[in-house]
Amino acid sequence: MRVFVLAEYLCLVQVVYCMKISQESIERVASACNIVDVVSSYFPLKRAGVNFRALCPFHHEKSPSFYVNEVRQTFHCFGCGVGGGVFRFVMDYEHLDFPTAVRRLAERSGITLVEESSAQDISARSERARLLDLHHKAALWYHHQLLRSPAALEARSYLKQRGFSKEIAVAWQLGYAPRSWDALKKWGILEGFRASELVAAGLLLKRDSNETYDRFRDRLMFPIRNDYGEVIAFSGRILSAASPEGKYVNSPETSLFKKGNILFGMDKSKRALVQKGEAIVLEGQMDLIAAFEHGCENVVAPQGTAFTLEQARLLRRFVERVILCFDSDNAGMTAVERSLPALFANGFQVRVAQLPSGEDPDSMIQKQGIDSFQKLLSGAEDFFDYSIHRAQGDAGLALSPHRVALLAKQLAGYLTLLPDAVLRERTSEQVALRLGISRAALLSATSPVVLSSRENVEQETRILRKKISAGTELLCRLALVHREVREWLSQQKSPMPHELDPELVLLEELLVSNVVSSSQPIGALLPSLSLCLQHLIPSWDLEKTVPDPLCAAQEVWSGFYVAYLKRQQSEATQQLRQPGISPEQILSIQQEILDLQDSIRNSSRRLAPVA
Ligand code: CTP
Ligand code: MN
Repeated sequence: MRVFVLAEYLCLVQVVYCMKISQESIERVASACNIVDVVSSYFPLKRAGVNFRALCPFHHEKSPSFYVNEVRQTFHCFGCGVGGGVFRFVMDYEHLDFPTAVRRLAERSGITLVEESSAQDISARSERARLLDLHHKAALWYHHQLLRSPAALEARSYLKQRGFSKEIAVAWQLGYAPRSWDALKKWGILEGFRASELVAAGLLLKRDSNETYDRFRDRLMFPIRNDYGEVIAFSGRILSAASPEGKYVNSPETSLFKKGNILFGMDKSKRALVQKGEAIVLEGQMDLIAAFEHGCENVVAPQGTAFTLEQARLLRRFVERVILCFDSDNAGMTAVERSLPALFANGFQVRVAQLPSGEDPDSMIQKQGIDSFQKLLSGAEDFFDYSIHRAQGDAGLALSPHRVALLAKQLAGYLTLLPDAVLRERTSEQVALRLGISRAALLSATSPVVLSSRENVEQETRILRKKISAGTELLCRLALVHREVREWLSQQKSPMPHELDPELVLLEELLVSNVVSSSQPIGALLPSLSLCLQHLIPSWDLEKTVPDPLCAAQEVWSGFYVAYLKRQQSEATQQLRQPGISPEQILSIQQEILDLQDSIRNSSRRLAPVA
């Protein structure tokens, strides 16, 4: 039953995903994008017979088990089991949702998508497109000022003095906002943007008198990008410590930018995050750029705020472990503590790296070098160990009973956040041991930590890794390849396949899909199927033949049917045992059982001995 419900759910997800882009467009994009070209644009493929082969990008391995089949337009890894068509590859590799992957591939192949959407959608999208365009151009303009403008001399030498080269400024598109009330405004108007748009983007501020002026003045500018790399906001830093103004000024929240949804640097660090399976979390953009440019690339920065649930969810798509590397001051410790609920709720394993006092990652890297920093990271302790060590101080002092009670209460609160029961039990045992108290005492100290609902990120992965029975696979495989099998199976309506076995909902889906009637390669049509099938089909060997496909299918079918009849028989037998049934009922049930036994005998005769 579970499979049936899940498959239904997955179909629904599919429908919602597909609604906006027409099926015809999706198929056009699929046929324009050869999966071999697409995959090769990310990493090299080697020919291996009819297939192409590479080290799997989705798990660690020493010898290649990742195959791309050009005829079928599919990929499959025999090591970790991932697979699908060209869209699934781009979705998984780039961590995109389905529509975004389709749009990305459409752009690549120069196809204009037909999107079925309401007038309201269209105007919202064009507004968004204009805002994005404005941010993109403004970033270029600020960047140009930094590199070329004589007025940016001080900004350039400031960067240099902090150890940031011109190459780094170019790589991160750093910029300079001139010391002027209207330089950006004039530029924007000339570029054809309305003042109201510049205000909506947060680049201009409005006075009471309705006059507008530049928000960012005489500041070093950091473009803030979403994880696809689109500029959606800016952060500007003052150039001199003596300035009376705030050190950082950021774009306000706009329709593009919600600070709590964004992790700075993610667009660049994605690859390294997936590769390492771990994220180093730093506070600010300077820290992040310094670390990244020194080769420590698996970094993200929540930009001075504690981790939100949205940020944690975003990051969880890439890694399952984090090292928090916040400033060593009390504010840093508070940021650690305030980040924990979101991180634990999303199932992260959390370690904490303790910086030398007075340093942040940037200053430490500049002074002591990246190796010291990496060493510090490799010494990062599990959060619970870290908390206890921190309370004990460097001398490893025994804690007073009062201190222990306080700490127990605090840590027990965090323990309740661990989503995995086994992990929670093991961790609480260890924490109790370290604190020198019983586990019961530790757990009774709990003061609950309030938390919003948790999303099970693992669910989809688990379904996708699901194995189906050999019988289901064979039926689906034969149905895909042989028309006569398809036709025979389509006639089997009483009982329906899913009544024989919930898994056979997959077969039902295949029989009515366009996959079986189209002349296109299967890979191109996968997106119209449920996620389960998208994942399973590429792992099947469709070239493997059987002598008489229809006969083979009928045999498997009979196997399912006999099992189904036996279930019915045992249900009927159960009914006989129920108290208070009338003699007429008994007779009719007994007759039913006899009929079932007949059917079972008849059907079993068709079953060949098990191979
Ligand atoms: N921050 C912010 N607004 C502020 C202060 C800080 O958005 N008014 C964010 C910035 O992203 C900043 C981070 O919080 O990078 C950490 O702040 P802080 O430690 O004060 O700055 P640093 O990152 O050390 O910046 P710098 O090295 O340039 O002083
Ligand atoms: Mn700093």
